[in-house]
This record gives sequence, structure tokens and C-alpha cells, in this order.
Amino acid sequence: MTTPPRKWDGRAIAYAETFAGQCAHAIEPLLGALDPRPGEALLDVGTGAGAVAAAAQGRGGVVIAVDPEADMLELADVAAPGAVLVRAALPSLPLPGVSVDVVVANFVLNHVPDAGAAVRELGRVLRRVAP
Ligand SMILES: C[S@@+](CC[C@H](N)C(=O)[O-])C[C@H]1O[C@@H](n2cnc3c(N)ncnc32)[C@H](O)[C@@H]1O
Repeated sequence: MTTPPRKWDGRAIAYAETFAGQCAHAIEPLLGALDPRPGEALLDVGTGAGAVAAAAQGRGGVVIAVDPEADMLELADVAAPGAVLVRAALPSLPLPGVSVDVVVANFVLNHVPDAGAAVRELGRVLRRVAP
């Protein structure tokens, strides 16, 4: 099995200063649609600089922020202090099955090597099923 290229490695600050602003436009519509409730566990996978994680915390959720890149998680730790930070990459998350209520992956699935496997993994950890 080949290891996928780590194209985000070492690019956290550059990302935060450029494209993160564009990706941020989707955050409120996403969270509005998902409607995480206080006390629910929200998984922000591919958290990047942590903008989704920070916004979710503002809604009272317990946030688990996942990213493969250590420098992204450092920024996420500043943006969303108290979030549970996990260094991992789809399609394999070190989380128990049926353990989170809401999953967000803002501009992430287009970057993973096997989007189908990634979605199956998100389904594995998800507790709440959409109405
Ligand atoms: C376009 S950025 C989006 C960041 C963040 N979701 C946001 O809204 O600003 C893509 C993020 O996905 C992460 N990523 C890349 N491959 C990934 C994978 N296989 N699993 C999880 N995250 C991944 C990158 O490290 C990067 O932080």
C-alpha cells in the first residue's frame, strides 16, 4: 500500500493566512444545518486551523478536532482551546464506533485519497442519524 502525499505538511500558517478565510464562509451554514446541541460530541475532521471547531464550541458542543498535520493542530488548539485534538487521517480514525453525534468535514473530503472509505469511516463513528 502506498502512503498518500502529505501536501498540507508544514503549510498551516500559509493556509490560515489565505484559503482559510474562503473556507470559513461555509461554517455557519453547515453548523446551522447540522444543529449541534449543547453537550453533543461534534467531530471536526480535517480541522485545519480550527475555525469550525471554534464555532462549534461557541454553540456549546464538545468538540473533537482531527487533522493529520501537527502544525494544523497547533493552530486549532489556539482557535478552539479545550477541544480534544487528535492527530489522524481519514479513512482511519482512532475513535470508537458510534461515539460522536455530529460530523463536519469542511473542504476536506476532496483532499482524501478514497472519499468512499472516508465517508464509511465517518458513518462508523457517528451516533446521530439525519432525519
Ligand atoms: C482545505 S483545509 C480545510 C480546513 C478546515 N476544515 C477549514 O474549514 O478551514 C483541508 C484540511 O484537511 C486536512 N486533511 C488532509 N488530508 C486529510 C485526511 N486524509 N484526513 C483528515 N484530514 C485531512 C488538511 O491537513 C487540512 O487541514
